[in-house]
Amino acid sequence: MCGIIGYIGKNKAVPYLIRGLEHLEYRGYDSSGIAVSQGGEVITVKASGRISDLKSKLAGIELTAKCGIGHTRWATHGEPDDINSHPHSSMSGLFTVVHNGIIENYLPLKKELLGQGFTFKSSTDTEVIANLLEKYYEGDVLSALSKCRRVLEGSYALCIICRDFPDTLYGVRKGSPLHCALKRTESFFASDTVALLPYTREIFTLGEGETAVMKKGKITFYGSDGAETEKKAERVNLPEQTADKGDFPHFMLKEIYEQPQVLRKTLSALVRDGELLPELSELKKSFFALQKICFVGCGSAYHAGLAGKILMERIGNITCVAETASEFRYGNTPLDGKTLCIFISQSGETADTLAALMKAKEKKAKTLSVINVRGSTMAGESDNVIYTEAGTEIAVATTKAYTAQLMALYLFALCFAHERWQIKRSERDRLLSQLSQLPEKVQSIIDRRDRAELFSSLFDRRQEGWFIGRGSDYASAMEGSLKMKEISYINTGAYPAGELKHGTISLLERGTPVVALCCEERLFPKTFANIKEVKARGARVLILAQKKSSQALTDEENVFLLPDTEDEFAGLLQAVALQLISYFTALKRGCDIDKPKNLAKSVTVE
Ligand code: AGP
Repeated sequence: MCGIIGYIGKNKAVPYLIRGLEHLEYRGYDSSGIAVSQGGEVITVKASGRISDLKSKLAGIELTAKCGIGHTRWATHGEPDDINSHPHSSMSGLFTVVHNGIIENYLPLKKELLGQGFTFKSSTDTEVIANLLEKYYEGDVLSALSKCRRVLEGSYALCIICRDFPDTLYGVRKGSPLHCALKRTESFFASDTVALLPYTREIFTLGEGETAVMKKGKITFYGSDGAETEKKAERVNLPEQTADKGDFPHFMLKEIYEQPQVLRKTLSALVRDGELLPELSELKKSFFALQKICFVGCGSAYHAGLAGKILMERIGNITCVAETASEFRYGNTPLDGKTLCIFISQSGETADTLAALMKAKEKKAKTLSVINVRGSTMAGESDNVIYTEAGTEIAVATTKAYTAQLMALYLFALCFAHERWQIKRSERDRLLSQLSQLPEKVQSIIDRRDRAELFSSLFDRRQEGWFIGRGSDYASAMEGSLKMKEISYINTGAYPAGELKHGTISLLERGTPVVALCCEERLFPKTFANIKEVKARGARVLILAQKKSSQALTDEENVFLLPDTEDEFAGLLQAVALQLISYFTALKRGCDIDKPKNLAKSVTVE
């Protein structure tokens, strides 16, 4: 996901731009750059690699400008090199642009511009926007911007400098987030509120199609119809991004350790005076009429949805499906007013999940989003929202946000099942009591991190592996496999334990690591049989099981016993154990744990 920063004020712009870009680093990127208005010119400096590389380039240049834009790029079109990194200027240098999103029709537009004599330096879609602005410009930037937006297809958050107006910045968004803020005589743009919190908590979030014209200490807003409009700032109470790791070597480990507190905060936020999810009072009225629930997300959020689906089917007694958002948005799942679609997203900005949400709304399905970031695009578009209380998650590989999603989905299932008379109040309270014990059970797993470190040796000198499980254990296997892949780059797969023998088992060799999730007690004998099958073919197996199954595992070599809980809640405990195992595996391999290669914290493009 790209990141945008803009600054105009009484001080030199470059330090503000760099600091803002550093706050956006966690989103994942492969190049960065800035552009400032100075002496009637627009000066651009950019570099592939890290922001530290950009700072090295800037060290030798005297930039006193007080107006500028910055960008971190996660490559979509064109190599991550100095030419393709942002900002991009139009042919004559009249316009300079930074962009987050994807212009789907940039090739035909570029062809038309080339035919009209425009030249290009990069292979990006963003440079097309800069030249379109130049093409339509007749002295009025907003008019040129409006004409440009009429031909653009796709998503964009833009921050624009026009050389003719060196004391002004222009921002506009469609499908990608853009926020702005004022602090006395200073004005800021940013893709994410975390970059604005060091200056103010009163933040304006641009709506779909809205434009902001920014001068020193002044912002004028225009609606999607082009008319000037008033906007109210919203107070963002997120803790300022703790950019330091404290005593931890990585943000990921710090965030793993934060999980007990995050789970307690999420529980206390969603259960008030004994009532579950009071913020859903309106939605609860429709529970009896609902005939289907769809759980939709990407990556780990999809895995949380899968776990939520399994629990909901078991206690809610309603038809459920779980789909990745990229499939759901183009699929043909029947949707109507009797369907509830639950969208899970940490960032609330993932393009596929947002598009899936918009499709569900179009089909008149009821929508509920489980989101971690307040003020995100999905939060604004959803009929109902449950917020997780994970705080800002900086490591690209999600940990605390994932287990908070599970907690929120477990609570929703309890709420739904009780409200629909599928479980009695006593059963609801018993299950709620089990949930309230999870934070300290998570802590007990963290306290035994040395076991996780020991078990990570299963993957020493191996470049492949399998995670297997049945029922909710399979959802855990999916998440455990993703965690291992995304931070240690080991090619692992997740498979339903009963399915392995239908072909994939042919891949097993002597020493192939297999992590077997065995917390579903009802299915334990079946999964245990699969463990025997893979061991017979030379696999080295690590078993994750609940303490109550320990008697059956006395002959097994590698067993990570987890505290007992409801089978369907064990996935949250398994997730923490598997996070630690992946972490120590990646650590031994010297991987970039917080910013794995090719990954972004939130993928705001298709
Ligand atoms: C998880 O470790 C990944 N970073 C990724 O799968 C992530 O869960 C996915 O991209 C969805 O992001 P979201 O929750 O912000 O929508």
